[in-house]
Amino acid sequence: MSSQRKRTAAKSRPGVRPGESVRILISRARVRQRVRQMARQIRRDFPHDTLHLVGVLKGSVLFLADLARELGGEVSFDFLSVSSYGKGTNSTGEVKLIKDLDVGIEGRTVLVVEDILDTGLTLKYLLRLFEERQPKHLRVVVLLDKSERRVADIHADYTGFVIPNEFVVGYGLDYDERYRNLADVCILQFAQHGSAKK
Ligand code: IMP
Repeated sequence: MSSQRKRTAAKSRPGVRPGESVRILISRARVRQRVRQMARQIRRDFPHDTLHLVGVLKGSVLFLADLARELGGEVSFDFLSVSSYGKGTNSTGEVKLIKDLDVGIEGRTVLVVEDILDTGLTLKYLLRLFEERQPKHLRVVVLLDKSERRVADIHADYTGFVIPNEFVVGYGLDYDERYRNLADVCILQFAQHGSAKK
C-alpha cells in the first residue's frame, strides 16, 4: 500500500463505534500548516489591532486555540453558542442564540471563528447580529468550507480548506458530541449507508 493510501484508508480507531468508521480527509500536519498561513495573512491585514476572536461553540474551540497561538500580538477571546445540528447530520436551518458574548464588540476588530461553513445560515444570522453592535472591523475565519451546500449568500474572509459535501468530524467537529478529539479532519462513514453525505 502506498504511503498516501495508508494515510487515507478507513481505520478502526479507539473511540470509533461499531458500524461507524472515519477516514482522514485533512491530516493534522496539513491543518497545522494552513492555520499558520491563515494567521500570518490575518496579522498582515491587521498588524496593530487587538484581534478579538469570537468562537462559535463548541466546534471552533480547537481551531480558535491553534489560530490564537499563531497570531501573535494582542488577542482576546469570547464565545457564543447557537443551536446546531443536534443528534443527526442534517441542519434544521433554524438558528437560535443559546449563549451570547460576555463583552460588547463595539469598536473592536472582531474575527468570527467558525469550524465549518455549510449552508451559511448560522453565519448569516451571526453577522447580522454583530453588525448591529458596530465593531470597527468584522471578519469571518473558517477552517472548512462546504461551498456546494451554501444556501445563504455568505462568504468567509479567510478560509482554510474547501471540502466536498461529506459529513466531517475531528479537530473540534462532532457527530452527536463524539469525535471532536480526533486530531485530523475525517469523513464519517456508516457501515450500512456509506458516508453521511447530505
Ligand atoms: P451552517 O449554518 O449550515 O453553515 O452550519 C454550520 C454549523 O453546522 C457548523 O458550525 C457545524 O456545527 C455544523 N456542521 C455543518 N457541517 C458539518 C459537518 O460536516 N460535520 C459536523 N458539523 C457540521
